[in-house]
Formats: sequence, structure tokens, C-alpha cells
Amino acid sequence: MITEEWQPTGGECEGEERKIMMVLLLIVAGLGVVSLLMILFAPHIRKYAAGGVCKSAARLDGKTVLITGANTGIGKETALDLAMRGARVIMACRDVEKGEEAAASIRAVCPSAQVEVRELDLADTCSIRAFAQKFLREVNQLHILISNAGVMMCPYMKTIDGFEMQIGVNHLGHFLLTFLLIGLLKRSAPARIVVVSSLAHNFGWIRFHDLHSQGSYNSGLAYCQSKLANVLFARELARRLKGSNVTVNSLHPGTVNSELTRHSTVMTILFTVFAMFLKTPREGAQTTIYCAVAEELHSISGKHFSDCAPAFVAPQGRSEETARRLWEVSCELLGIEWD
Ligand SMILES: NC(=O)c1ccc[n+]([C@@H]2O[C@H](COP(=O)([O-])OP(=O)(O)OC[C@H]3O[C@@H](n4cnc5c(N)ncnc54)[C@H](OP(=O)(O)O)[C@@H]3O)[C@@H](O)[C@H]2O)c1
Repeated sequence: MITEEWQPTGGECEGEERKIMMVLLLIVAGLGVVSLLMILFAPHIRKYAAGGVCKSAARLDGKTVLITGANTGIGKETALDLAMRGARVIMACRDVEKGEEAAASIRAVCPSAQVEVRELDLADTCSIRAFAQKFLREVNQLHILISNAGVMMCPYMKTIDGFEMQIGVNHLGHFLLTFLLIGLLKRSAPARIVVVSSLAHNFGWIRFHDLHSQGSYNSGLAYCQSKLANVLFARELARRLKGSNVTVNSLHPGTVNSELTRHSTVMTILFTVFAMFLKTPREGAQTTIYCAVAEELHSISGKHFSDCAPAFVAPQGRSEETARRLWEVSCELLGIEWD
């Protein structure tokens, strides 16, 4: 049997090509319109993305501030702002060289800045203990502790002590550091503790049955768990510090174009493409600065902030029972007794 294979005619080919050209033209025109709109509205988009600003002009002369993870991102901008207010700022960094570079850039902007770098690796309880020991020996007052350092969405890793890296650094490391410095904070009162958490706490829950994700690990969920732990820790600590004149609040800094996405290629690409819609590190530092200095917050404790205003806390972040249980588990894991 003879079959005839269908061959497109010259006219049909041209029709197809025309259609493809039309679609391509529409895409290019669409992108052009979007780009034009973005250019036209850029100042408005930037203003909206920047979020709240700390308007307090409070000075911090004679005050001592400790900031973890201050060599880059939000921590570095916080250090610069508080140093410009006259504080002695101690930048606790795991990489002293990077810390010294950041301190030098702060001094370049503000020659009178009293900034100093000290080594602290929150993924190692020996480093935290050594840091605190030296700190208590050499620094006789601490008015503001800012638990800022953080790691996000890293591949499965453990701290020196065998904790999953994100819960280990973001929560347990800061828990131990605060425990070791709480006496000094109380002696220096009025004092403030500021815990940099995240909106991501909304999507987290504390997996008491597998806190270190040994059964299964999802880097995003482990980050959310650690940021929920930040909120719960701040609330429980605030309850325990009642009457001490030491306050503690947590915050969401906003979505900030920093180095935080370094472990996720997808997030890094998204953050680069949509940089215009994100906060700069300086803008991202505003709520931290607000919680550290705003006069109206002098007796506010156990609250959560975003854009320099009170913010919503997810139900799992308001559970007193979970907060107490997390406190007990944290003490047990760290081998400490903290009533
Ligand atoms: N960026 C955002 O959109 C966003 C949103 C919500 C919440 N946050 C929170 O904001 C905080 C600051 O983040 P960022 O955006 O400024 O990120 P970043 O630029 O990556 O800064 C994180 C800082 O934490 C330090 N760090 C990490 N692991 C440490 C360890 N084991 N010991 C001591 N320091 C350690 C880093 O030091 P190295 O440079 O040496 O690694 C760095 O200084 C974090 O707690 C983060 O969860 C950020």
C-alpha cells in the first residue's frame, strides 16, 4: 500500500512563523511595559519596600552593646547606628578577620565609633563559654544584648555539640549566651535584650520528638522552627525577667537583601532579581535599632515587632506551654540550670 506523508506547504510554514513572532513580540512588549512601570514607580516601590524607620534620636553615650553576627548584613548596620549614638559596641563574630573589616568600615564612616571585635562561634558551646568568660572578666556593664546572628536553609549540618545547625546557632547558641550574660545584664539594668527572629516563625513548629531533624530534614522548615524558638524564648525570658528592669523583645526585620540566602541558590537568584522590592541591610536594621533604643519601649517586654511597630505572633508562638517545654529542653541539651 502506498501512503502519502503530509508535508507542510510553504504558506502553512509562514503562518506558523508569524504566530511565533507575534507571541515573542507580545512577550517583549509585556516585559517592556513592566520595566517601564518599574522605572516610573521605582521611588514609590523603594519607599514602600523600605518599611518602618526608627525615629528615636536617643543617645547611648556610656552604654555598652553586644551584637552577635555583626560583621555583615543587619548586624553590621545595627552596629554602625548604635556606635553613631555613642555606644561602645562589641561585635561578636565567628570570623574575626571579617569582623575587623566591618569594624574598619564603621570607623571609616564614624571615626569616633567605639567598636571592637571579639570571637564568638555560636555553633560551638566551648566558644560561647570562652567568649562569655572573657567578656565577664573584661567588660563590667552590658546594657543591650542583640541576638542577631543567624543561618538559614543550610544543608544538613551539625554544630560541634551535635545540634542541627539552625536550631543550634539561631536558638541554642543564643540561649546559652544569654544565660551566661544574664547576671551582668541585671546588674547593668535598665537593660534590653533584642532577639532577631523572623516572619518565618509563622510556618514553624517545635518538633520536640525530633528537634535536630535526624528523622527527616527540610532546610526551610528547620529555619522556621529555629525562628519560632526565638519568639518563644523571648516571651518565656520576658516572663521570667519580670521586675528585673531587663526587657526582652523579638522582631522580624523584613525581607532584607543580605548574605542570609548564601545556602540557597534559588533564594539568592530571587533576592537578586527582586532586589528592588527588598529592604537594604540598613533598612532591615531599623526594627532592631528601634527595639534597642526607642524610649517608649523602656518597660515593654515579651512583645514582637516588625517595621518599628508591634507585630502579629502566630498562635504557636504564643503558647506558654510550648515556651516552657522548649526552655526545659534547651536547658537539658545545654547542661544548664536556669530557673
Ligand atoms: N535577611 C532577611 O531577609 C531576614 C529576614 C528575617 C529574619 N532575618 C534574621 O536576621 C538576622 C541577621 O541576618 P542577615 O540577613 O543580616 O544575614 P547575614 O548577612 O547572613 O548575617 C548573618 C550573620 O550571622 C553570623 N553567623 C552565622 N553563623 C554564625 C555562628 N555559628 N556564630 C556566629 N555568628 C554566626 C554570620 O557570620 P559569617 O558572615 O561569618 O557567616 C553573619 O555575621 C538573622 O537572625 C536572620 O535569621 C533575616
